[in-house]
Amino acid sequence: MNYSNNLQSAKQLDERDPLRKFRDEFVGTDSNLIYLNGNSLGRLPKKTKDVLKNVIENEWGDKLIRSWNEVWFNKAQKIGNKIATLIGARSGEVLVSDSTSVNLYKLILAALKANPNKTKIVSDVFNFPSDLYIIQGIIDQFPTKYKLELISSSDGISIDFDDVKNVIDKNTALVLLSHVAFKSGFLYDMEKTTIFAHEQGAMILWDLSHSVGAIPIDLNKCGVDFAVGCTYKYLNGGPGSPAFLYVNKDLIEKCDSPIWGWFGEKSPFEFNLNYKPSESINKFLVGTPQVLSLSAIEPAVEILVDAGIEEIRKKNLGLSDLFVRLVKEELDGFGFQIVSPLEKNKRGSHISISHNEAYRITKAMIDESIKDFSVIADFRDPDIIRFGFSALYNSFEEIYRTVEKIKFIVAENLYANYSIERNNVT
Ligand SMILES: Cc1ncc(COP(=O)(O)O)c(C=O)c1O
Repeated sequence: MNYSNNLQSAKQLDERDPLRKFRDEFVGTDSNLIYLNGNSLGRLPKKTKDVLKNVIENEWGDKLIRSWNEVWFNKAQKIGNKIATLIGARSGEVLVSDSTSVNLYKLILAALKANPNKTKIVSDVFNFPSDLYIIQGIIDQFPTKYKLELISSSDGISIDFDDVKNVIDKNTALVLLSHVAFKSGFLYDMEKTTIFAHEQGAMILWDLSHSVGAIPIDLNKCGVDFAVGCTYKYLNGGPGSPAFLYVNKDLIEKCDSPIWGWFGEKSPFEFNLNYKPSESINKFLVGTPQVLSLSAIEPAVEILVDAGIEEIRKKNLGLSDLFVRLVKEELDGFGFQIVSPLEKNKRGSHISISHNEAYRITKAMIDESIKDFSVIADFRDPDIIRFGFSALYNSFEEIYRTVEKIKFIVAENLYANYSIERNNVT
């Protein structure tokens, strides 16, 4: 298709987009910034500003400690129940607390204790480093008992189910996988993988950080034991917002948290000297909830619930399909390669492309003196640019403009004007 026709068709897709109205609910969407990094840190919902103002001025400023009873004490569970509706979980199975890494620590040890006679932990080469580090740290505490085995990838983009089957065996205590891989965007078949793990007698823990809020998930239908996920990516909860954890109701009573903090105790305000765990999901709480950052998650999740996760997925696939088509048509011969799965049921909501000048191209994309607008995507070592598509605030026209800008940067060698020195956060 001719490039200007592509612009027309992108505009038409925007006109027909049923989610178009949600763009206005986010700060900064009327600026000259195209933000394709919602897979790292989602945009700020306008409503969140008012909610936080109220938390600070009214709940904290005026009401002070009274707000614990009035609003704060059950917030972790209340927001957990809202997230539950996005991930196919029941009320009482999801909590918001701590970071994803800390929740991984709690749930990995809970699973290992609940499945004590096996010694293998399985993950894959695509998993986020923190997930692997947490497993390695746990193995370091039990060096003679556990070993970690990683499922490999034959092409660096996807994982074959045969490779999954070759690694998970009858000695596997726990399988820990990211539902969507942070680099290539590969999406696992959750149901098939969970069923296979269970057939081998293994428990399974899914890291939903790159799928929650972007992809319909049905943890209960798939029979998933445990899950964790970030809230600052597609859930738009804000920088460092606390993560969530899910424990299947059938397991809550049978599992223990390895961190016995007072918020996980049955009656924290009885101040008993000996710990008795809560009988509910609360046993996976540790200490005082981070009220300010916790409060920012609620309005953001409400927008997603309102928009509907099926509609969000449909649009995300549309945005990424357009991006893939334009990369193929317009960037052919410029040294780019698509390094994400192309099948719809095998990819999440970001597409990665590689280029040997990826870092400097990413920097040039941000520079608004080129073409009078800025495009933020992110760079992942060694040569990958990741483009995250967020249906609530990205438009089809933005996809067109992004590829147009990349083409200009590479055709004119403009990236050569930028330093190769890496920022702290890429
Ligand atoms: C898949 C995945 N798991 C875990 C983490 C770590 O999350 P946290 O910093 O909340 O521990 C991240 C962070 O980006 C992630 O992408």
